[in-house]
Amino acid sequence: MKSDELYALLRRRGVLWPTAEIYGGAQGLYDYGPLGAALKQRLERAWTAWFVGLSHDFYLIDPAELLPEAVVRASGHLENFTDPEVVCDQCRTSFRADTVLEKVRPEGVDGLAPAEIGALVRDRGVTCPRCGSTALSVPRPFSLMFGVDFGVAGTERAYLRPETAQNSYLAFARMWDVGRRALPLGVAVIGWVYRNEIAPRQVLFRMRAFTQAELQIFFDPAGFPVPFDRVRDERLPVLRAARRESGAESPEWVSAADLVAAGDLPEFYVFHLAHTYRFYRDVLGYPADRIRLFEKSERERAFYNRIQFDVEVHLESLSGFKELGAVHYRGDYDLGRHGEGSGKDLSVTRPDGRKVLPHVLELTFGVDRNLWALADTHLANEGERTVWKLPAYLAPVTVGVFPLIPKAHAEAALRVADELTAAGISVRYDDAGTIGKRYARMDEAGTPFCVTVDGETVAEGPNHDTVTLRDRDSRQQSRVGRAALVDRLRSADALVRPARL
Ligand code: GAP
Repeated sequence: MKSDELYALLRRRGVLWPTAEIYGGAQGLYDYGPLGAALKQRLERAWTAWFVGLSHDFYLIDPAELLPEAVVRASGHLENFTDPEVVCDQCRTSFRADTVLEKVRPEGVDGLAPAEIGALVRDRGVTCPRCGSTALSVPRPFSLMFGVDFGVAGTERAYLRPETAQNSYLAFARMWDVGRRALPLGVAVIGWVYRNEIAPRQVLFRMRAFTQAELQIFFDPAGFPVPFDRVRDERLPVLRAARRESGAESPEWVSAADLVAAGDLPEFYVFHLAHTYRFYRDVLGYPADRIRLFEKSERERAFYNRIQFDVEVHLESLSGFKELGAVHYRGDYDLGRHGEGSGKDLSVTRPDGRKVLPHVLELTFGVDRNLWALADTHLANEGERTVWKLPAYLAPVTVGVFPLIPKAHAEAALRVADELTAAGISVRYDDAGTIGKRYARMDEAGTPFCVTVDGETVAEGPNHDTVTLRDRDSRQQSRVGRAALVDRLRSADALVRPARL
C-alpha cells in the first residue's frame, strides 16, 4: 500500500491521528487511538520479553523524561545533537540539508561537515524544494533538543530527553547496587523522547515526540562472554560500509561465524546483532528478504559510536529501506562523560580486584516506526477483504465476540466475552451489522480470532457452551468448547522468549 492509503486506513480505524487534529494538527505529533495504543503496548511487551528477558541481570526502569542541563552537556548532546539546517531566503522555509540535496545526493549527508554541505548546495545548482529559489543559506547546526525553563525562578534549564539511553547511564551507579554487582548488567527504558526535527515527515518516521525502547548493556571491556554457538550458523543480511563505498546496495548473506572471522567485529557484537535480527524476523515477522543490517562508516555513525549497524526494513509505503532500530557499541563514552560531568567515579571493582569503567552495548528500537512497518508489511488487500496479518501476540485485540442474532444471543455472547476477559484475553464485543461486516472490521484490525455465539450455544445453557471459532488467516470455522477456546487463545497470545544468556 502507498503511504497515503495506509495512513488513511490507520486514521479511519482509529489507530492514530494527528495531535490537536481539530486545530489542524501539529507537525510531527501523533496520538494513538484504541487499536494503536494496544498495539504499541503489545509491541513493547514483545520487545521486553525478547531483550530484557535475555538475562536475569537485565532490568526495566521507568525514569523521568526531563534531564537537567548538566546531563546533556556531559553527554555531548548540547554540543553535537544537531542537524544541518538550510533556510530559503526567498520563502523563509527551513529544511534539513539532506532534503534540499535529495536529488543530487540521495544517500544523505551523514558525516559531511557544514562547509562540505554548503559547497554541494552552491556548486550543484540546488534550489529550494518549496519555491524553487536558489537563494539558500549556508548550512548551520540546528539543535534538535527541546529546552524548557525549570523551576519557578526560570534560571535553571532542563531538556526533554532526546534518547532514553541517558536515563540508563544516570541510573548505572544505583543499579549496580540494586542489582547483583555483576557484569554484564542491562538497564532498559521504554518511553517518550523528544526531538525538534527540522522537517517532520513520513508520519511515524520523523516525529517530534516518539517512543524508544532501548537496552543498555554494561560490560567488562576485558571480556563479554556470550553463547556464540547459538548464532554461529545464522546467516545475516549485512551491507558492510566498505561494500557500500563500491556502490553495493543489496545485503550479502553472511554467517555470524564468518562475520567474526572477518576480524573487525567482536563476538559479543555479532551475537547481539544476530539476536536483534531474529527479533525482527521471528518475533515481528518481517520477511527475511526485506531486512538488511546496514553498517554505518566511521564518518556516518553517531558521535558516540564505535560500531553501528542499523536494522533496516524495505517498506512499500515509503518506497525503500528504512531504519527501524540499531545495535550500537558505544565503548566507555557514556560512563566516562557522566563520570567527568558528575564528578562521581563510575568505575566498578571486578571479582579479581580490577577497577574497570564498563563499556556499553546499546540495542535501540523505534516503537512508532515499527508500528508503521507492521502495518506496511502485514496489512494487505486480499481479494474483497483488507486483512492485517499480525502475529496473534501483537494483535491489539485477540478475539472478537459476536452474537449471531443480537436480540436472541446477546446475553450468552456477553457472558462468553466476560469469561474470556477474566481469563486475561483481549476481547472486543461487536453486535453491529451483519456477521460479514463484523468479520471484515476484525480482519482490518488484525484480530486473529472471532467467536460467534448462536442458538446452539444458548440451547446448551451456561455450563456447556460451544461456540464457532473463526481463524483470520485461513477463514476456517470450527465448533469449539469453552475450555478448548481459552487454551487456544492463550497459546496464540504467548510471547516468543529467548534462552537466557
Ligand atoms: N540511543 C540511540 C539513539 O537514540 P537514534 O538512531 O537517534 O539512536 C534510535 O534513534 C531509534 O529511534 C531509531 O532507530 C528510530 O527507530 C527511532 N527514531 C529516531 N528518530 C526518530 C524520529 N524523529 N521519529 C520516529 N522515530 C525515530
